[in-house]
Amino acid sequence: MSNSNEDYILKINNIEVKYHEVILVLKGVSIKVPKGGIVALLGANGAGKSTTLKAISGLLNHENGEVTDGSIEFMGERIDKMRAEKITKMGIVQVIEGRRVFEHLTVEENLKVAAHLKRKGKKVKEGLDMVYHYFPRLKEKRNILAGFISGGEQQMTVVGRAMMTDPKLILLDEPSMGLAPMLIHEIFNIITKLNKEEKISMLLVEQNAKLALNVAPYAYVMENGRIVMDDTSEKLQDNEDIKDFYLGFSEHGERKNFRNVKHYKRKKRWLT
Ligand SMILES: Nc1ncnc2c1ncn2[C@@H]1O[C@H](COP(=O)(O)OP(=O)(O)O)[C@@H](O)[C@H]1O
Ligand SMILES: [Mg+2]
Repeated sequence: MSNSNEDYILKINNIEVKYHEVILVLKGVSIKVPKGGIVALLGANGAGKSTTLKAISGLLNHENGEVTDGSIEFMGERIDKMRAEKITKMGIVQVIEGRRVFEHLTVEENLKVAAHLKRKGKKVKEGLDMVYHYFPRLKEKRNILAGFISGGEQQMTVVGRAMMTDPKLILLDEPSMGLAPMLIHEIFNIITKLNKEEKISMLLVEQNAKLALNVAPYAYVMENGRIVMDDTSEKLQDNEDIKDFYLGFSEHGERKNFRNVKHYKRKKRWLT
């Protein structure tokens, strides 16, 4: 792929983000997502991954956060001062972490509510058909209250809700968190399919680096509000530091224990 600007659906140019006007969390972050591509954003807890996604989707405003420097371009247009609703209409949707569904609504009602910004009448039906095509489990459960389905099915529901907004770019915040390995596998297969077949670009935030590097061909590593490394996933997988500090997952996807994390913090000097 050439490197001309038109090849990127999203360009984050050296942004700085502050909460409450004083808490500086992102200290110059640049990330590019190719059109139709999947890019992973890795990093430990508290690095600033969710903040990055909220800066893109406009959800920062709800938390008294602001992009105070740099710019974000979506399909060539500046979006860093836009309201979240407008950004969704342009085709960006964020799947926030923690798979928050409306528990008192059925699965199908959850999907329909998400459609209101982008789809009316017949288009809602088309959206539902598409979601049920990719998530047959949701079709089976469509009349069940979302509070009563499994964690995996709730994660599918929030991804389905994102699809109802007819997105060009989905921002996924830790979709694997707390799910059983088999379900993680199922969800990531569907995410890959959506990318290939519906041509939806993805920016994927994950703490499970092994998983993310398998799904995304390119990844960025974030530490303490800065990008400290970016490369093809192939190269990152072979990088000793990445192996040590980010691929320290057991077969079951559990994180390294606290002692190892502390060890990692001490050894972090390699990054500076
Ligand atoms: N609404 C907020 N107000 C103030 N500080 C926040 C807020 N949200 C996140 N932070 C801080 O910003 C830093 C990055 O958080 P976050 O983006 O959630 O990291 P990650 O998603 O990588 O775990 C953390 O130190 C966190 O405490
Ligand atoms: Mg987060």
